[in-house]
Amino acid sequence: ENESTVSITVVGASGDLAKKKIFPALFALYYEGFLPKHFTVYGYARSKMTDAELRNMVSKTLTCRIDKRENCGEKMEEFLKRCFYHSGQYDTQENFADLDKKLKEREAGRASNRLFYLSIPPNIFIDAVRCASLSASSGNGWTRVIVEKPFGRDSESSAALTKALKQYLGEHQIFRIDHYLGKELVENLSVLRFSNLIFEPLWSRQYIRNVQLIFSEDFGTEGRGGYFDNYGIIRDIMQNHLLQILALFAMETPVSLDAEDIRNEKVKVLRSMRPLQLEDVVVGQYKSHTKGGISYPAYTDDKTVPKDSLTPTFAAAALFIDNARWDGVPFLMKAGKALHNKSAEIRVQFRHVPGNLYNRNFGTDLDRATNELVIRVQPDEAIYLKINNKVPGLGMRLDRSNLNLHYAARYSKEIPDAYERLLLDAIEGERRLFIRSDELDAAWALFTPLLKELEEKKIIPEYYPYGSRGPVGAHYLAARYKVRWGDVGVDQ
Ligand code: BG6
Repeated sequence: ENESTVSITVVGASGDLAKKKIFPALFALYYEGFLPKHFTVYGYARSKMTDAELRNMVSKTLTCRIDKRENCGEKMEEFLKRCFYHSGQYDTQENFADLDKKLKEREAGRASNRLFYLSIPPNIFIDAVRCASLSASSGNGWTRVIVEKPFGRDSESSAALTKALKQYLGEHQIFRIDHYLGKELVENLSVLRFSNLIFEPLWSRQYIRNVQLIFSEDFGTEGRGGYFDNYGIIRDIMQNHLLQILALFAMETPVSLDAEDIRNEKVKVLRSMRPLQLEDVVVGQYKSHTKGGISYPAYTDDKTVPKDSLTPTFAAAALFIDNARWDGVPFLMKAGKALHNKSAEIRVQFRHVPGNLYNRNFGTDLDRATNELVIRVQPDEAIYLKINNKVPGLGMRLDRSNLNLHYAARYSKEIPDAYERLLLDAIEGERRLFIRSDELDAAWALFTPLLKELEEKKIIPEYYPYGSRGPVGAHYLAARYKVRWGDVGVDQ
């Protein structure tokens, strides 16, 4: 029989990511009929557990989304029957060899394809890769490994990790996830730009005044302080999620939609970036705050965080791409935890209309009269364009309105989670949304000197109250480049 099988092993099956994202995404793919006919899911972790116990654990994580109620319970049962558990150490080849035996049994002589999802802390990545690759690789199909950040914490440690991974895996086997690339509106960025005549011709310094990439969360690092304190917001969000969006946003037209063509263009953007100056960065850390009788903790109130930690939970930065298209255009990034709202947005502010006939009808605030394109990645996905129009009536008063593609209004179907798309792509061998090692190197090359300087000079973060809009320093930074931050999440 030449039908093939796919075995998906979730290494670190009892971890948070596995429970919150990986199993639910696999189930969603199964429900929608996207998984191959012959597949099995293996949970791998150290603790002892039976298949039934794993199924019970997984079942608690599965949900039937609103538009998916039909037969959901039945589908869940079917899916759970394909889930198994194997207990083993992450650094013991024999344990992976035992897994290999079980996988072979289930593959029942069919061609075998194997996907390992490493949902484990970075200090055991390499051991697990070594064991999986030496003792549980497929003999007659593909073997792929999904890894997730942190990919080191600077250029050196990242290069060391890549080198170690490549002892056991070829680049084509490594799937580095940046889950922001799996988000619907980030994928749509290229469609918007390259398939609409009205955007691509404007996509340059000639018409774009500045670009803003904004990430904010309305909760702190509660419970993750141990991880977070060693990384900080620049490594956690900017060096990967926001920079990846920037690269996609700013790249030249790729030769085709093939993964290599797209990644070639992205890496060019990253390598054209001007080295980041300390003056172009503002860091902050949240402090406790009491509001409405509820008191919210400071970052350093977390027991796993040192009391004198200077780790930024907020950062804003002005970046520049020194190439012909973007010369002089500020790309402003802002990322923070424990802010007043949860949102991720791309904002593109266009230039003033030269010699605008209507200038006097705008009053004094000419800045407000420029067009702005907003791509709201989440929540409540939308793409809207701010335009100027006349207020209806006999006078000549101008107003600003939004041409709005509001996803919830336009599409009744729920948007899939980023992990669904990424897992499916990994199964299908589509690499477009995964990070190639030269991209990773370029991303670290940009941020490493800055991170070192921040740490060596022990730069004190600007403290901001939990739930606030973050440090005012971010506004001064933007003002230096004549930029005003968009009103994230408020206008629509
Ligand atoms: C992760 C970060 O990569 O992304 C987290 O480590 C952050 O700190 C998360 O909360 C945000 O992802 P999402 O998809 O919830 O916006």
